[in-house]
Amino acid sequence: MNNRGSIYIYYISGTGNARSASYWIADEAEKNNVNTRVQQIDRLIDIDLPPAGSDHLLGFAFPTHGFNAAPIMLRFIAGFPRGRGKEVFLLNTRGGLKLSKLFLPGLSGVALLLPAFILFLKGYRCIGFRQLDMPSNWISLHPGLRQPVIESISNRCERIVRKFTRKILSGKNVYRGLFSLPADLIISPIALAYYVGGRFFLAKTFIANNKCNNCGLCIKECPTASIIEISKRPYWKLSCESCMRCINNCPQRAIESAHGLAIVFWLAFSSFNALILSLIVNYFTIESSSTLWWLASNILSIAGMVAISAALYRLFHYAMAARPVKYLVRFTSLTTLPFWRRYKRLKNNKTTT
Ligand SMILES: Cc1cc2nc3c(=O)[nH]c(=O)nc-3n(C[C@H](O)[C@H](O)[C@H](O)COP(=O)(O)O)c2cc1C
Repeated sequence: MNNRGSIYIYYISGTGNARSASYWIADEAEKNNVNTRVQQIDRLIDIDLPPAGSDHLLGFAFPTHGFNAAPIMLRFIAGFPRGRGKEVFLLNTRGGLKLSKLFLPGLSGVALLLPAFILFLKGYRCIGFRQLDMPSNWISLHPGLRQPVIESISNRCERIVRKFTRKILSGKNVYRGLFSLPADLIISPIALAYYVGGRFFLAKTFIANNKCNNCGLCIKECPTASIIEISKRPYWKLSCESCMRCINNCPQRAIESAHGLAIVFWLAFSSFNALILSLIVNYFTIESSSTLWWLASNILSIAGMVAISAALYRLFHYAMAARPVKYLVRFTSLTTLPFWRRYKRLKNNKTTT
């Protein structure tokens, strides 16, 4: 049954989905007498690489963010030593939902393709591509799923992961994650837009409300070290990847995704961009239908969006010392609503500790 010697799995996980998947693989492999080493790559520190010359199978598990692999995983893979024909597999967890009895899948975009391409350039051979529709954790968009739904989706995923592991261990290649290639390629421009701009905007939509007691847990646990303390309150840096770990795990439920603030930022930078772009067109008499102008205006718009959101976020951070501002920001955040559940991995699942 088992054609592989041992497995090294590297994972990043905001809210535990990719982590659970990694431990399911390890558990199944151990049952088949394959040694495994599972490591999380938080902050890209304290990570052991496989000994040089060893023939471990390598696995990378990570969440899908904006139709792409989580940026920290892309950085990790880009910095990985050269492969010399070594075999790897990739597993991306996506945002799965369930409507009545119907399991709804997420969308990968380039989440498998881009890491596979980087690994290919480094001399690795990708023998497994697997998408996994775990319960969606994106609670800035929707309330966290109910526990029975989480359980049902997770159980289904566990079976899929174990089957995937057995196939790989038996020496078979798994290309299941590439079946949606046409749709994935169609949405790849959105993946690019998210990567170069969208994620920085989202990073600036987290705030700590007046329930924050400065326990420091979010700062300590952030996988990208993107939360710092400014004026005795957590402050999210641009490097935040919106992995949702902080907002879902805050013991005080004090972290919000500030929808009202996001609208203010949006209005501010759209007006600013429109003004700047129209000034440039008029001043330089540029042909606004040219490709060059299309490219330049997009770059300018994204830069404007990031710069203005960052500046306004800093301003609001100080302004929220005043109670009325703090309350205004808090009560224009949908995540404040009592039914807006946080996403919690299963409590009785041994891989969630
Ligand atoms: C900022 C953000 C972006 C996301 N983008 C996608 C996406 O493009 N496609 C998708 O299927 N799921 C998306 N999701 C859902 C997560 O990928 C999914 O819930 C994943 O299983 C979370 O894994 P984790 O708990 O290991 O972080 C996104 C979630 C977040 C927070």
